[in-house]
Amino acid sequence: MKEKVSAMLSVFSAPGEYRGSRKNIMKKKILVITGSPRRHGNSWAMTDAFIETAEANGHSITRFDVGLSKIGGCVACEKCFSKENQACVYNDDFNKIAPFIQEADAVVFSTPLYWYSFPGQIKNFIDKIYSFVVGQKDIAGKACGLMACCEDHDISALDGIRFPYEKTIGLLKWESVGEVLIPGVFHKGEINATDGLQRASALADAL
Ligand SMILES: Cc1cc2nc3c(=O)[nH]c(=O)nc-3n(C[C@H](O)[C@H](O)[C@H](O)COP(=O)(O)O)c2cc1C
Repeated sequence: MKEKVSAMLSVFSAPGEYRGSRKNIMKKKILVITGSPRRHGNSWAMTDAFIETAEANGHSITRFDVGLSKIGGCVACEKCFSKENQACVYNDDFNKIAPFIQEADAVVFSTPLYWYSFPGQIKNFIDKIYSFVVGQKDIAGKACGLMACCEDHDISALDGIRFPYEKTIGLLKWESVGEVLIPGVFHKGEINATDGLQRASALADAL
């Protein structure tokens, strides 16, 4: 896959292009992808805090709650973008989101940890980003961010999200503006007893 990605990445932005100070913010289209199927849980609360600040800063936000959507797994058929310009020939909610990935200046992921990894729906979403590689669509140069939480009090439990996030965006030539990793939250609302919401807001300020 690395060769395909290198071939696709003809253009990408210089590091730092997407970082703005509050005084001189470049207005961006931000795509927010959430992974929890639990409405108004801990990661949704971080998402809301992020969006509130990002909108106050003048950015435009598109949010997809993929934890509530229907996205099948990539079947590696490599027929991406071969049918009516659809990203995936197996038409599901990924195809609704795909145009927003292409247009976005920044992509932000917000998710809980499930079994030391991404929940299935958001993993399926990430797998289908492969369609841009096969379809030779240039999506390099985006800013990105990560918000994640889990029950375990040991922050290393979140390595199963942090590591694939960092490796994936490296391959895609996206630049992370920050990671908000919050351990020790299980029930809805427990995020309020942490610094997760403030850090989610600070992540929005970093874009
Ligand atoms: C199916 C499932 C698997 C989970 N697996 C883990 C896990 O491996 N490690 C962990 O620390 N927490 C795990 N959790 C707990 C969630 O990460 C935690 O409750 C988180 O705060 C949920 O975020 P949310 O409210 O945004 O859904 C799991 C929860 C569920 C429902």
